[in-house]
Amino acid sequence: MKAGFNMKTSVALMGASGMVGQSIITALADDPTFEIVEVISSEKRQGKVYEAETNWLLLAPCPEKIKALTFKSLEDLESPYVISALPADAAETMEPALADKGHIVFSNAAAHRLSDKAVMIVPEINREVLKKALPAQNKGMIVTNPNCVVAIVSLALAPFYEAGLVKTLSMTTLQSASGAGYPGVSSMDLLGNVVPYIQDEECKIIAELRQLFQVPNQPISVQCNRVPVRVGHMASIELELTEPLSVVDAQKIITQWGQSHDGMLIFHDDPTAPQPLKSLSANDMRVHVGRLQTGLTDRHIRFCALGDNLTRGAAGAAIANMNLYHHLRR
Ligand SMILES: NC(=O)c1ccc[n+]([C@@H]2O[C@H](COP(=O)([O-])OP(=O)(O)OC[C@H]3O[C@@H](n4cnc5c(N)ncnc54)[C@H](OP(=O)(O)O)[C@@H]3O)[C@@H](O)[C@H]2O)c1
Repeated sequence: MKAGFNMKTSVALMGASGMVGQSIITALADDPTFEIVEVISSEKRQGKVYEAETNWLLLAPCPEKIKALTFKSLEDLESPYVISALPADAAETMEPALADKGHIVFSNAAAHRLSDKAVMIVPEINREVLKKALPAQNKGMIVTNPNCVVAIVSLALAPFYEAGLVKTLSMTTLQSASGAGYPGVSSMDLLGNVVPYIQDEECKIIAELRQLFQVPNQPISVQCNRVPVRVGHMASIELELTEPLSVVDAQKIITQWGQSHDGMLIFHDDPTAPQPLKSLSANDMRVHVGRLQTGLTDRHIRFCALGDNLTRGAAGAAIANMNLYHHLRR
């Protein structure tokens, strides 16, 4: 396998024409360490040029180098690192096939998150899981990020889990249209509407939260809604705590955790924040928390958490995993 075509580490991208694939392309456009040099597609696009075959949906432009790439097949892939933005059914067989051939696959797909074929990590929360699972040199592996909601809310929940304060968790999500990929939910179903159903989403979120925070039997209740927002998943969360906690102390816990994790968790005092249109910036990896209040009793707190589902929830999460792997290997 080729180690690289240039000074940067070569990366192949699977699912490059989709919503997450495009976000990965823009996020890595000026990356000092990694460069996308291969795009992989299903048979219908192989041998065709990226620009001609892709409906570019992002405001940020597609880099010229990517526009000129020709879609390859899985068999022709050479890069040591592969980012997968495939649907779960395609990822099911394609990702293990690449790992078996010695590639390191950074996946956004649900296919292997809870299986022993992969490790699921959020670098700010459980980086030691990847450290322990590192394979021998020249052996491959699959590293996945969690579901987009879990990738976002986990940062807002981590301060409370790490303090041993969480007894039960109840959450209602408001998930943007881009979370369903492209073309996703029909505009006629979503415009001016709210759809209180996202297939298989609630059970995925519950299982992944339990695994990530190592709380296999914890009561967790989730209800998911698709809302007509372009980008940004919000969750309204209520925690039952193991002991009473004031709002002031809860805010301190959140702010201190954010400060000790590169500002990746932001607390908003403004009672109207956070909002997708006002709080999120381009390639925003931060999770925004606000509306912190006492819940049902003095042992309950409520707050909302917001994050960019394409960045923190997918592209940025896979890139963060790739950076962590690369760092651990050096
Ligand atoms: N959107 C989000 O916010 C988000 C967040 C977290 C995780 N995810 C996960 O990330 C993955 C990608 O999501 P998305 O929103 O980008 O979906 P999407 O817009 O539907 O894109 C899917 C991509 O996969 C390609 N593809 C499909 N079948 C293939 C095959 N057999 N071989 C090679 N390429 C194939 C598609 O290309 P063709 O059109 O050529 O088939 C397309 O480029 C999914 O697993 C999703 O669950 C998404």
